[in-house]
Amino acid sequence: MLVLHRRLSPDSYRRITLVALVLLCFIVVSGALVRLSGSGLGCSDWPNCEEGELVAPLEYHALVEFVNRLVTGLVSAAVILAVLGSLVRAPRRRDLTRWSLGLVVGVIAQIVLGGIVVLAGLKPPFVMGHFLVSMVLVANAVVLHHKASQHDGAGELGTGDVDIDDDDVDIATQAGPSIATRLVRVVFALVVIVLVLGTIVTATGPHGGDETAERFDLPLRTVTRVHAGAVWALVALTIALCIVASRALRRGDRSAESLRRAATRLLVFEAVQGAIGYLQYFTDVPPELVALHVAGATATFIAAVQLLIVGGGSFATSGVGPDVEGIGRSSGPGAPVGVGSVVHGSGLAHPG
Ligand code: HEM
Repeated sequence: MLVLHRRLSPDSYRRITLVALVLLCFIVVSGALVRLSGSGLGCSDWPNCEEGELVAPLEYHALVEFVNRLVTGLVSAAVILAVLGSLVRAPRRRDLTRWSLGLVVGVIAQIVLGGIVVLAGLKPPFVMGHFLVSMVLVANAVVLHHKASQHDGAGELGTGDVDIDDDDVDIATQAGPSIATRLVRVVFALVVIVLVLGTIVTATGPHGGDETAERFDLPLRTVTRVHAGAVWALVALTIALCIVASRALRRGDRSAESLRRAATRLLVFEAVQGAIGYLQYFTDVPPELVALHVAGATATFIAAVQLLIVGGGSFATSGVGPDVEGIGRSSGPGAPVGVGSVVHGSGLAHPG
């Protein structure tokens, strides 16, 4: 193919990964709109909208569902571009190809799962799974974009291809994770728990699937309280993380700066998202607010993934560093951000 003979600049590739990320977030919200407008079975067949008809008839629910399927097409195109782009990027980096292939696997899984959701009549576990796999895809896209934004480190070395082994052991692993690193991981795990609990609330409440879809037979008020309770625990731990990072900064540990920024950003998203959550709870969950809550959940999750990249310790250093073909590990400008002493155990783990 002609395009494969061309070389793509790191900047152009970074833009492609950003488009893929934005489209993936967009489809989470457009998918939720399908559900909230009761258009989940607007097309009764898959991949055709109706039996033997690929395009939707001029009918509201069928069109909403059909537009969402078109967005799926755009997402698929962006993801394919991300893979092809990683192959023609100069320098070529294996890590970018690997993570972009992760997107392909995720999109294929979602297309298949989307079909199962429709064929299974919007059963709660499948609808929940569809949302949660979307979050995995978004996480993959965030990491890919983060990696694509890193310097290759290859320019200095004067060759095109660098290689970083995933199993290289960093200082953090040898010293054991610091308090900050542990907190970051717990906060991330809690965000995931809050997301899962949120989908259980939805699958129990008025907006699960469509009007006729099966629901979980659970007390709605109680599951909502458990969901909100987990959010309070999350907010408390995120505040603790902000304090830990601020103290480290005051002690002169400059590596804590990016950690503090990421933790503060997550805290702001949690606060806004929590406010939307209570507002929708006290106003009988109007679909518009629920759609905003889904968008907020996606934004909060992205902030949590960014926090994990910055302060997750060995995850940040081994899984997320640049991997340029041909030269061996780069520790120069390509090194991941936020991997200073604060997350390595030498700073916060051993205060004073
Ligand atoms: C960090 C904060 C929060 C996050 C990340 C979050 C996330 C989520 C998610 C992912 C869903 C499922 C959306 C769907 O499947 O369509 C959900 C649903 C829900 N959340 Fe939250 N949530 C948060 C805070 C809150 C708070 C504080 C409340 C207050 C009670 C709340 C109330 C609800 C309700 C009532 C639903 C069900 C909405 C529906 O009927 O579909 N959320 N949340």
